[in-house]
Amino acid sequence: MSNKLILGIESSCDETAASVVQGGRKVLSNVISSQIALHTQYGGVVPELASRKHIENINTVIRQALKEADVQLQDLDAIGVTYGPGLVGALLVGVAEAKAIAYASHLPLIGVNHMEGHVCANLLEHPDLEPPFLCLIVSGGHTHLAMMKDYGEFEVIGRTRDDAAGEALDKVARAIGLGYPGGPKIEKAAVEGDASRYSFPRGKIDESPYDFSFSGMKSAVLNELNRAKMCGEEICQADVAASFQQAVIDVLVSHAMKAVRDFGQKRLVLAGGVASNKALRGALQEACQQNGIKLYCPSPIYCTDNAAMISAAAWYHYEKGERADWSLNAVPDLPL
Ligand code: KG4
Ligand code: ZN
Repeated sequence: MSNKLILGIESSCDETAASVVQGGRKVLSNVISSQIALHTQYGGVVPELASRKHIENINTVIRQALKEADVQLQDLDAIGVTYGPGLVGALLVGVAEAKAIAYASHLPLIGVNHMEGHVCANLLEHPDLEPPFLCLIVSGGHTHLAMMKDYGEFEVIGRTRDDAAGEALDKVARAIGLGYPGGPKIEKAAVEGDASRYSFPRGKIDESPYDFSFSGMKSAVLNELNRAKMCGEEICQADVAASFQQAVIDVLVSHAMKAVRDFGQKRLVLAGGVASNKALRGALQEACQQNGIKLYCPSPIYCTDNAAMISAAAWYHYEKGERADWSLNAVPDLPL
């Protein structure tokens, strides 16, 4: 295993992040500048504001990451950057910055898929973890079940047909007045709530058992809110939060368990922002234990967007000799 130093840069949504990781697994620094306070005023991420904030912050974040790792640009072996999927203007800031630094410092440039990065967050804390394994990626933009067959080689076996799990949580949070960012607020409210108070549907697609559908589940909540309003009934925010969170968790757990069984897997790797949800982690842990599966989850700080996961993914692409050229561009709908 090489000790190459990779600077990772991440700016696909509302976090400006930079990190230095050694040998793909040892985090020397992990700096994240969150835009939550900015977007909270608008109830969600405003893409144009996100791009501008990235421009304002990116140099400071990178300088800080180098400083905390106690390295200079000339000590680095490569620069890895998220080039998709994500918001085009936001991605462009990171890509342009990475290209400029790589060009000026004569460093190799590696383009990284953001979803692959999420999966690689697990490599940072689990030294024994090597592909192949099955992964469940649950974020604000994506919900995927995929096999990581080898480093950099994925086979998607299921995906959401409509909303991502995090997106559905965010929309329901907004509808019940919890605001942005919805996932963590739903989690907090749900602690005080009764998950059996409302019976929301568990979305499934009969002909594609590994695919997800969260939009009907979200509509069921909106219908219930409307019904209650028309009848002059008060809704209990905590109970709606707990019931909806449970519905999302049930679907994620049942799909993942079917996939591990059908694909004969003994390990399941969880990734993405929603993976920081304690109730989801607990439910998956229990289901995995019952089925003799070992569950891998990143620490919460590596679940939500960060650049250490981008450095980790960039590292093995670097070792394989893969390089991006100066035409590297943002690809907002980059597939896994
Ligand atoms: O991976 P991520 O940071 O960004 C994307 O790549 O989308 O995921 C963000 C999503 C948001 O939808 C957010 O509400 C959700 O992850 N999220 C959570 C929690 N923390 C973040 N959902 C449920 N519980 C949480 N604790
Ligand atoms: Zn993400």
